[in-house]
Amino acid sequence: MMRIMLEDGRLGGKVALVTGAGSGIGQTAARRFAEEGARVAVADWRRDTARETAGELDGAMAVEVDVTSAASVEAGLKQVVEAFGGLDVVVNNAGVTIVGATHDLSEDDWDKELDTNLKSIYLVSKAAWPMLLERGGGAIVNTASIAGLWAIPDDAAYCASKAGVIMLTKCMALDGAKAGIRVNCVCPGFTETPMIEVYFNAQPDPAESRRFAERLHPLGRLGRPRDIADAMLYLASDDAAWVTGHALVVDGGLTSGIWSG
Ligand code: NAI
Repeated sequence: MMRIMLEDGRLGGKVALVTGAGSGIGQTAARRFAEEGARVAVADWRRDTARETAGELDGAMAVEVDVTSAASVEAGLKQVVEAFGGLDVVVNNAGVTIVGATHDLSEDDWDKELDTNLKSIYLVSKAAWPMLLERGGGAIVNTASIAGLWAIPDDAAYCASKAGVIMLTKCMALDGAKAGIRVNCVCPGFTETPMIEVYFNAQPDPAESRRFAERLHPLGRLGRPRDIADAMLYLASDDAAWVTGHALVVDGGLTSGIWSG
């Protein structure tokens, strides 16, 4: 089988860090980025899945990072730059979902959700910023959600965190524009990953909840991790050289309007 050369592809010669890359969307993004020539730092707080994922890919490394801890993030990024000599692309994708209405959520759950989904983007991007400047610019892609655009019942902290990701993306885009750092986010619809199973299983009738979610998407199915990873690849690559501050909705038409199914 022919091996892909590192200088080929839409991310040829680039170094990309993907957080939450041991599972789901992040894992597929790590694979796509490697196929397109990037050296990928597969970052996850689950060392086993990070190592397994990195082990499948040419020119990849695993990094054990807890994105909610500044010390862990700084140590992880240092390892990446030591191993790969720099950093060009950051995908802030790690996330959790904790189902609950505002009046039911514990303070700990609120903090965990906001720290993992939103504060992490500030921590990772802040630590990565001087490394991107060192390369003369770069691209940051954040994972938001349609839940940052549309409210979902019993999902208050998740929705609030993802709305925050969209606005943080726009602020970071302005902050990075003069330095050549582009910042965008993706807003996936319901996507087939372990996380969506957690969401469905928290509903009174998980099977019906899944069928309902499928009907909600006009294109007639849930998203696949590849659908989202390809959008991330576009935003991370020079194909999107004049795109910054954008929230790219990838949702099979879900948020286009009222849909009777
Ligand atoms: P997933 O549960 O398959 O993967 C999430 C990954 O993040 C896991 O590997 C987990 O270990 C890692 N992670 C969690 N907390 C971490 C921490 N503190 N430090 C480092 N790594 C950590 O979930 P999925 O679906 O792939 O989610 C990826 C992103 O996509 C998340 O930000 C999620 O909110 C977002 N998203 C997912 C949707 C879906 O329907 N699956 C829809 C819209 C957005």
